[in-house]
Amino acid sequence: MPLTIITTIKEMQDLSDTLRKQGKTIACVPTMGYLHAGHASLIKEAVKSHDIVITTIFVNPLQFGPKEDFERYPRDTERDKNIIEASGGSILFYPSIDEMYPPDYQTTISVTNISKSFEGAFRPGHFEGVATVVAKLFGATKPHTAFFGQKDYQQTLIIKQMVHDLNLGICISIVPTLRESSGLAMSSRNVYLSDDEKKQALVLHSALSEGHSLIEHGERKRAKIEQVMHDILATCPEFTIQYASVAEADTLATPDIFLENKDLVLLIAGFLGKTRLIDNMLYLSKS
Ligand code: PAJ
Repeated sequence: MPLTIITTIKEMQDLSDTLRKQGKTIACVPTMGYLHAGHASLIKEAVKSHDIVITTIFVNPLQFGPKEDFERYPRDTERDKNIIEASGGSILFYPSIDEMYPPDYQTTISVTNISKSFEGAFRPGHFEGVATVVAKLFGATKPHTAFFGQKDYQQTLIIKQMVHDLNLGICISIVPTLRESSGLAMSSRNVYLSDDEKKQALVLHSALSEGHSLIEHGERKRAKIEQVMHDILATCPEFTIQYASVAEADTLATPDIFLENKDLVLLIAGFLGKTRLIDNMLYLSKS
């Protein structure tokens, strides 16, 4: 089936209402476009369990800081359409900025506690922008389930909290991070990296893997785990660390010593040259 492209909220809502009346299950995969195999894995996962998969492409100005890369964020909608079709997606929702934020627009959504640390601390306002646009995309596409990548770990917690707090009644499904064979997490922003920087960027995955293995060997002192991550990151002087930390996976709490049976998440962010990179790795306790 050729891809159906919808650009207005009203048309999108009407189509979703019709599909729901026909008894179809709807999945939504929100993206900012410039799709790669990581995005495609979300669409493919959604296709497995839903009749209709709506991919959304919207580079959301609200979630970029004034000094961030909104203007130069990579875009290639023709290529994106092919990737969506090849992944089995049937609908593309592709609204304009005016359609999403008309001049009288005035509402933002703030998920407070879980937004304060890590990405929230380094990107003020970012998660308000994310929560707001995702709520709007949910309102437009009316999905039963929405798919997000573990790559943006804190984002997944914020969306789940928002859906819970606002009783949105949408199931949130998290898909593991797709990596290059080198270990580099796929990201639209990798296009900014030179070949040398792509090699240097592997230090993030090495630091996460070392921290993870320390935890597997029983270490629960946060400072010890973070020290190992920092030591490895320091072997790549081109990488400027913003944070390299470990936290409880469900709350992002950072006690000095973690309980044995807690699931943990290792989180890294920083700059390689002008490019901001983030990555994470989950440790799931066996109990
Ligand atoms: P974007 O960065 O385009 O990512 C869209 C979705 O793809 C997110 O859920 C992200 O976690 C997931 N993703 C990115 N790289 C991935 C990878 N290597 N493996 C698996 N999934 C990956 O995240 C956003 O857009 C925006 O914040 C958005 C939620 C669309 C709101 O504007």
